[in-house]
Amino acid sequence: MEKIIKNKIFKNYLSTCKSYLLSPSRFLFLIHNILIVLFYGNLKKYYIFQLPPKFNDELLSKIFLGSSSVINLSNCVIPHKSDYLFSSFYDDSATELRIDANIKTYDIDCLDLIRYLHKSIKDLIAPLTKSPFIIINTRAWTSKPNSERFGPNALHLDGFFPGHLKIMIYCSGLSIASGSLQIEDQVLNDHPPGTCVLFKNSNALHSGIPGSSMDRHVLEITIARSFSFREREIFCHPLARHLKSVLLFYK
Ligand SMILES: [Fe+2]
Repeated sequence: MEKIIKNKIFKNYLSTCKSYLLSPSRFLFLIHNILIVLFYGNLKKYYIFQLPPKFNDELLSKIFLGSSSVINLSNCVIPHKSDYLFSSFYDDSATELRIDANIKTYDIDCLDLIRYLHKSIKDLIAPLTKSPFIIINTRAWTSKPNSERFGPNALHLDGFFPGHLKIMIYCSGLSIASGSLQIEDQVLNDHPPGTCVLFKNSNALHSGIPGSSMDRHVLEITIARSFSFREREIFCHPLARHLKSVLLFYK
C-alpha cells in the first residue's frame, strides 16, 4: 500500500509541475495559498467533527429520502459561461454511464436548508481552518452498496487548484455496512451518522468505499481558505470543481 501511495504521489507531483507551467491561474492559486499558509499556518491532512443528530436527520429526509430529484451525470448540463471550472473527468459518456449505474446524484433544490447547513458548518470549522474561507460548491450523492471501486470510489487525488478543501458529511455514518472513507492508509469505518470529515482533497490520497449492505448518503462541500469571508451565492452543481480565478474570492 505504501508503495502504491508513493507511486501515485510521485506521478501526481510530475503532472502538477506540468500543469503549473501551462496554467497561470493555477500558479496564482499556488501563490495565494503559500501566503495563506505563511499568515495563518498549515492544516493537518484531515479533521473529524459531528453535525447535531437532529439536523443530520433533516438532511437525510429532505435531500436523500425526500423528493429531491435524481440527475444523471450523462444528461448534466454545464453552463456555457460561468466563474467555475467543471469536471472533465466524466468527459466520455461511457464513464458517465458507469458512474450513473453506481452512484445516485441529486439535483439539490432545498436552498434554504443548504444555507442553514453552510452556516452551521462555518461555526463548526472556524477553529479548524484557522483562517477565513469561502464556500464554493455543494453536492449530494448516494453510493449503492457493493458498487464498483472506480472513479471517486478508487484511491485518487482530486487535482483542485491549491488552497481548496473538502468537507464530506456522512449522513448515514461511516461503517462497513453503510460505507467508509479511506484517507491514505487510514480507513474511517466506525463513526455515527452526521460525521463530517474536513480534508485536503488534492494532497491526501482518498477513496470512498461503498457499503456492504446499505446505501452511503454523502454531502460534499468544497471550500477554499482565504484572507476574508465572502458570502457567495449558493452553488450546487454535480460537476463543478472550483472557481476559475483566485481573484473571484474577493469579488
Ligand atoms: Fe475525491
